[in-house]
Amino acid sequence: MKGILLAGGSGTRLHPMTLATSKQLLPVYDKPMIYYPLSTLMLAGIRDIMIISTPDDLPQFQRLLGDGAQYGVRFSYRAQPSPDGIAQAFLIAEDWLAGAPCALALGDNLIFADHLSVLLQGAARRDSGATVFAYQVRDPERYGVVTFDAEGRASTLVEKPTHPVSHWAVTGLYFYDARVSTFARQIRPSPRGELEITDLNRIYLEEGSLQVEKLGRGCAWLDAGVPDALLQAGMFVQTIQSRQGMLVGSPAEVAFRMGFIDCDQLREIARSVFKTELGRQLQDMAGPAEPPAPLPIPA
Ligand code: TTP
Repeated sequence: MKGILLAGGSGTRLHPMTLATSKQLLPVYDKPMIYYPLSTLMLAGIRDIMIISTPDDLPQFQRLLGDGAQYGVRFSYRAQPSPDGIAQAFLIAEDWLAGAPCALALGDNLIFADHLSVLLQGAARRDSGATVFAYQVRDPERYGVVTFDAEGRASTLVEKPTHPVSHWAVTGLYFYDARVSTFARQIRPSPRGELEITDLNRIYLEEGSLQVEKLGRGCAWLDAGVPDALLQAGMFVQTIQSRQGMLVGSPAEVAFRMGFIDCDQLREIARSVFKTELGRQLQDMAGPAEPPAPLPIPA
């Protein structure tokens, strides 16, 4: 399975912070925002990832993330000339996907949950249909909203409803089978001129192959697209990290735990941020460097 990290858009709800930089490069506590969804994709076991952003911002992502070798993964980059909708990602990446199944993560979404890797790797292993995650929110009108029937199966999907009939929002993490680009071609722009991800998901829903996994109260899903949410996301990460001494959203840690890189490579990343608490934690994780092998004692 391949992965797309979508980090374009206009970020108008974060102006003036996003007038001169990309929303997904803004800090969420001690890391750039894009580290969080990147860690999520890597936790799903995905090692081939395309980063899509605006033509202006793409070089900055390349500077930040490079070719992925430091994390034992491969990054490709492609521009979205204008923000014509989330589902457009599958048209932009169609030749690169070359018929592979694909996960899509929105660059401003952060998911934190116990056993997240089990959930993600389960979704990545399904070989037909699509899997999305639903989360209960107080303000469903901001999102794609899903309703469930009496048996708990997804029954309707509506993008940003004025009068939502459910509090279950669809989060910004989606897993699709090999047909995703073909289905994306069938979608027409919505009244706001975008290729809507909800329309793509509805195609799977209507053929009965959309699996909607509910994220329970032990999970946190944050979308850092408005100032309050950006601050809350930062405070959330700071709280967990300082209280538990665990990292949230560190691609280096995920790469190490997934076996994509070894101790030496992790130590190398730790050295590149050596003045920070993050660097210290990565260094601890890697453990002490092996002492040099003793010189042979001459006979
Ligand atoms: P949104 O938050 O819906 O849109 P936006 O980022 O343009 O922000 P605003 O509404 O404040 O103007 O986008 C969700 C995510 O998807 C975000 O990470 C940006 C990304 N995105 C794209 O990369 N391309 C697009 O065409 C759209 C619509 C979104």
